Amino acid sequence: MALNGPRLKYACDLDKSVLINNFEKRGWIPVSAEEDWNFYWATVQSVRNVFSLDVGYRLTDDQVISHFPSHYELTRKDLMVKNIKRYRRELEREGNPIAEKDEGGHYIHLDFIPVTFMLPADYNLFVEEFRKNPSSTWIMKPCGKARGIGIFLINRLSQLKKWSRDSKTNSFTAPSSKDTYVIARYIDNPLLIGGKKFDLRLYVLVTSFRPLKCYMYQLGFCRFCTVKYNASVTELDNMFVHLTNVSIQKHGDDYNAVHGGKWTIQNLRVFLESTRGKEVADKLFDEINWLTVHSLKAVSGVVSNDRHCFEAYGYDIIIDDNLKPWLIEVNASPSLTSTTSSDRIMKYKLISDIINLIMPYGKTPDVKWNKIPSKEHYGNFDLLYDEELAQSDLLNLPDTKARSGTGTTAFRGKDGKRPAATWK
Ligand SMILES: Nc1ncnc2c1ncn2[C@@H]1O[C@H](COP(=O)(O)OP(=O)(O)O)[C@@H](O)[C@H]1O
Ligand SMILES: [Mg+2]
Repeated sequence: MALNGPRLKYACDLDKSVLINNFEKRGWIPVSAEEDWNFYWATVQSVRNVFSLDVGYRLTDDQVISHFPSHYELTRKDLMVKNIKRYRRELEREGNPIAEKDEGGHYIHLDFIPVTFMLPADYNLFVEEFRKNPSSTWIMKPCGKARGIGIFLINRLSQLKKWSRDSKTNSFTAPSSKDTYVIARYIDNPLLIGGKKFDLRLYVLVTSFRPLKCYMYQLGFCRFCTVKYNASVTELDNMFVHLTNVSIQKHGDDYNAVHGGKWTIQNLRVFLESTRGKEVADKLFDEINWLTVHSLKAVSGVVSNDRHCFEAYGYDIIIDDNLKPWLIEVNASPSLTSTTSSDRIMKYKLISDIINLIMPYGKTPDVKWNKIPSKEHYGNFDLLYDEELAQSDLLNLPDTKARSGTGTTAFRGKDGKRPAATWK
């Protein structure tokens, strides 16, 4: 990286070496958020302040910031679910074949989030759904908490007595957000590797919502539980079995600090190609790209599309034992803490590749996108979807050839090489 370009000014709210090392390597000058900066890696709260009407701060054409102010439409689970449900209804109303349903009334191509309700608001709807399938397990997540905190599993209605009472007696008082939960059908048949549950953490960079332009990072990873999976009721409260968050698993007795319970996506691909065949693996990764694009499409109309903003989302995806991917949640501030040395290297590269895409040609930010990144600036990213280039894509069903426009190249190494799996 040439260091003789203009010395950009950066502000950064997070004391993370993977960020600071990147800025320093480029010879950028640290400034406070109150001074003139070109590049601001901000917390979501700071972004809200920068864009708040009270502050009335006007950004200039050479300033970029690391979040969209209304990212929560995607990154708050309740809103994500609401937006995806609305998006499906809209497509259905237009008669779009993407929104086709099967005889059971399930979306054939857009059924990628577990059935989800809000509590207490949707308590009665939840009960109706539960009665259809009384042996199902559900996962409760308190609103406003993250990284596995406060989550628990239930499989009996009686465990929700409190909600039933509250929803009847307090139906006119809005519960405070600390008492609201998102309840989702628990995917109780996850694909296991070495007997253990895992989920995927994928990074998706959005540089514009309207038109949508997004990139998928090739170096995502799988996060494994430290203990073997066991769906029996007696283990329902053992979070080392059910939650894949590293922040939970690293406290397990069997946590391995060398690999950190992580596998690269490339390792997963090698594993799936050798155990299930290449076609099956390709289909799975195509479906992951598909659901990612549609989750973003679902919010593209409601996120305020400020051209100073970019955002790198952390997608949490679970694969079930039928090799169907499920979108669990999208994080606005995926962890930049490194638990292992390869984690540090990957996260350093992630930030470096993000900067190269945001500022192609390595000079100053240019929010008018006069200089559009070309392949040479992608680093380890693949273009996932570019609405300007692929207007007709949404009209194409999965499996059709044009679907490759949603980025079937993502995850396939440029040289076709895949590193060997290192642990199981
Ligand atoms: N519907 C589900 N089915 C199976 N596992 C789930 C489901 N929802 C969450 N999990 C597990 O719980 C973990 C934490 O849930 P998540 O919704 O990502 O909340 P958090 O914000 O706390 O990370 C996920 O990474 C996943 O391992
Ligand atoms: Mg999560």
